[in-house]
Amino acid sequence: MSNPNEEIMKAIAAHSNLGSYDAARENFSWQEIERQFTWSDTGRINMAFEAIDRHADSGLKDKVALYYSDDNRDESYTFGEMKRNSNRFGNVLRKAGIAKGDRIFIFMPRTPELYFALLGSLKIGAIVGPLFEAFMETAVRDRLEDSSAVAIITTPALLSRVPVGELPSLKHVILVGHDIEPAEGRYDFYKEMEEASEELQIEWMDREDGMLLHYTSGSTGKPKGVYHVHNAMIHHYYTGKIVLDLNENDVYWCTADPGWVTGTSYGIFAPWLNGATNVVRGGRFSPQSWYKTIERYRITVWYSAPTAFRMLMGAGDEAVKEIDLSSLRHVLSVGEPLNPEVVRWGMKVYGQRIHDTWWMTETGGQLICNYPSMDIKPGSMGKPIPGVDAAIVDDNGKVLPPFRMGNLAIRTPWPAMMRKVWNNPAKYEEYFRLTGWYVSGDSAYMDDEGYFWFQGRVDDVINTAGERVGPFEVESKLVEHPAVAEAGVIGKPDPVRGEVIKAFISLREGYAPSEELKADISKFVKEGLSAHAAPREIEFKDKLPKTRSGKIMRRVLKAWELNLPSGDMSTIED
Ligand code: PRX
Repeated sequence: MSNPNEEIMKAIAAHSNLGSYDAARENFSWQEIERQFTWSDTGRINMAFEAIDRHADSGLKDKVALYYSDDNRDESYTFGEMKRNSNRFGNVLRKAGIAKGDRIFIFMPRTPELYFALLGSLKIGAIVGPLFEAFMETAVRDRLEDSSAVAIITTPALLSRVPVGELPSLKHVILVGHDIEPAEGRYDFYKEMEEASEELQIEWMDREDGMLLHYTSGSTGKPKGVYHVHNAMIHHYYTGKIVLDLNENDVYWCTADPGWVTGTSYGIFAPWLNGATNVVRGGRFSPQSWYKTIERYRITVWYSAPTAFRMLMGAGDEAVKEIDLSSLRHVLSVGEPLNPEVVRWGMKVYGQRIHDTWWMTETGGQLICNYPSMDIKPGSMGKPIPGVDAAIVDDNGKVLPPFRMGNLAIRTPWPAMMRKVWNNPAKYEEYFRLTGWYVSGDSAYMDDEGYFWFQGRVDDVINTAGERVGPFEVESKLVEHPAVAEAGVIGKPDPVRGEVIKAFISLREGYAPSEELKADISKFVKEGLSAHAAPREIEFKDKLPKTRSGKIMRRVLKAWELNLPSGDMSTIED
């Protein structure tokens, strides 16, 4: 394939830490990377120490670690300041009696306080559950309940969505806001921070000790708590180097919220482990404010998602012309299939190839990627990173030849791999049912040059604007609505969001279909669960297709929607 911008590709390749992909694969060893960390002397480790304190205690002390801005705030923090602030927060938690292994949730908008809190919690060895600020009460309750969380850091505005009285384990509520009335178990973040010492005795962790719980959806059951350990730093540091291509001169922007795994692995750990300056932009998405962010901070490396790129594309090429994006040298994408058309548009208007990367909440870090040093094929997720083996396998674990579609599977283990599903060993085991492999749940094929091509999900999991939604969770909420008898939820293809959520609903006696009722049902999910889980489309049906055992057949709903044959109907009820 001809390369429309050889010069840029060469310039990018010159920056790459990887050199040649094939040579790197050949000479690869995870042990080599491990040696870079403190634990090679001590055997003990802490992610927050390696990401922040290591730099604060060295030549990077006065270098900006974090630029933060939103419509009201405009701040920056050096590595030294990040260290002191996170130390203070660690002391706040210790004073409250919170200790290693306790589950702490952070439920607040992306502001510097979130980062102090997350790092401070890791410093005392707590296990952090970051929650996206758009979650509503049911989503918050499910997660805190499942993990028996002892503390939550939130804002007065979000507090009404935390059913404190119904969560017996939840002893501490730390409020980031003004005019907080402290009470038993209720703390004023700013006041506590002010009183706390800047010196902290870090909790030295075993590499297999817990660090994060990221809840994510499957096709059945409630969201599961994917458990990550401090050992993941090897992976984050390494992929930060070879995939994000970060070094100490970079100003880096990951647009993901830490409520999702991209916002922690690559919005916190990878950039800071590599000593880069990290940019966080609060507030809502707008093409204007995003482009201004790149221009203002002279961002060099930018990691975002297909839906965002598609929205930027929709905003037009003119919006780009008014802005100076010349600082950008590397652009990446994750979360959903990246259309070749978007890659070509990126070449044209940014002069940059958008590099697709593939991974999951469960994998903890990037696994299949397009590198700066690699010839990328628009539409492909790239190749497995050196140190990782991926393959397409059939349902028995047999490796399939090139161009055969099958299960995308990864040879176990790798450093950032999840170590359990909280409270649910059976769920965990399901991922490893084919001996020696992690089964991703994605289907894909590999071409004859080793590039992987995403085809879809094997299960009913929906990917809307890069956010993973379990149909079961939405269906459960829908049937709580007084008008809803039964509900089946599918992902409907959408040009901007990838998929949107569509619900098929049968109504209870006494309710008649209407546009108002659709709006009311959608609002009910939005306010009860979260905006991104709310159906954008609802269709009423007298009856939903079910198996004889009473399970709603989403496969048939999907076939109806797409005007496809319904496939094997032998198990259908009638
Ligand atoms: O289906 C794949 C899709 O997103 C799923 C993982 O979602 P989540 O755990 O929320 O993590 C997203 C960010 C790490 C995958 O099973 N997915 C992720 N990256 C890609 C992708 N689909 C196509 N291309 C990608 N690059």
